Amino acid sequence: MRVVDAFRAAFGADPRTVWHAPGRVNLIGEHTDYNDGFVLPFAVPWGVTAAVSPREDATIRLLSLQSSGDPLVISSHEESQGWSRYVVGVLAMLGDRVRGADIAIDGDVPQGAGLSSSAALEVAIASALNDLYDLGMTPMELALLSQRAENDFVGMPCGIMDQAASALSAEGHALFLDCRSLGSRNIPLDLAAHGLTILIIDTQVHHEHAGGEYAKRRAECESAARKLGVAALRDVTDLAGALDQLQGAERKRTMHVVTENHRVEALIGLLRAGAITEIGALLNASHLSLRDQYEVSSPELDLAVEASLRGGARGARMTGGGFGGSAIALVSDERLEAVKESVSAAYAERGWQPPRFLPATPSPGARRVS
Ligand code: GLA
Repeated sequence: MRVVDAFRAAFGADPRTVWHAPGRVNLIGEHTDYNDGFVLPFAVPWGVTAAVSPREDATIRLLSLQSSGDPLVISSHEESQGWSRYVVGVLAMLGDRVRGADIAIDGDVPQGAGLSSSAALEVAIASALNDLYDLGMTPMELALLSQRAENDFVGMPCGIMDQAASALSAEGHALFLDCRSLGSRNIPLDLAAHGLTILIIDTQVHHEHAGGEYAKRRAECESAARKLGVAALRDVTDLAGALDQLQGAERKRTMHVVTENHRVEALIGLLRAGAITEIGALLNASHLSLRDQYEVSSPELDLAVEASLRGGARGARMTGGGFGGSAIALVSDERLEAVKESVSAAYAERGWQPPRFLPATPSPGARRVS
């Protein structure tokens, strides 16, 4: 394994453990996680592999196969910058349960595609340290720790979806997660048996203001919940009554979150009934709601969705936080080329850089690889 070779070359010994954690796409349940709602993501075939050995001192030596040069040597948590903060954040959250570490990482999550490469990195490191120090943490505890690293150390107020998907997914399944109780279930998602593919359409566009807009949406939801006298928008049972009490952005955000939770439940109902080919309409409705009510789509995402539907996709939506990144399209295998051509042609017509197409195969969650 090339990450082990790199570890050996940099640190002069074999790593004590090697863990892989994947990125994710979200099938449905967008911007619901921090509203205590429901999500249905699954792990993708790409992720981060981390080769790790403990150290006697508190130093962290960190080598990435995706960056050139010598390993970073970090002797205090405050020194970390850029991508290394996701790693150092996990160590910081573990506090005196761990000491320093020598770490080599190798990642193949397409960058900027919104497929949660940062969650993959956090969960790979947390899982490796849990193993090395025999901490006995469950996959959900590792996901929560990774989320805390991102919230409190990196400063991104994300929900639990991405880290949970990375830690708990199972091959051939989507992960249904109740983000309040943290109860989860792996739901079979046998695309191949139905001649279906979930195609990731990476717009290769990422809008700068995404981080600020994410925090703003979150604040709007929390404010709406306060006005409605509920702990979280998940608790709204009378949507019409709630909408009467709200205005402007808060009204629209509430509309999205409440209906999106219902769409997650409806989609799971269809999957249980063996009606996977029928889920397209829910994907489409989710996209329209994210575009018009939650206002987190982008022209590139909208065009990817519209053009894939014109090309014969059964349904399509933006996936992840929005403002760029990727859309997903549910496509019958015989329409796959037509859908790609339709999207590529639509982008070319606008003079936009071509999108990248990737097949999303539901893959296993974090696992020890050596
Ligand atoms: C980002 C966050 C997640 C979730 C999604 C939107 O991926 O990291 O916690 O909120 O956006 O569903």
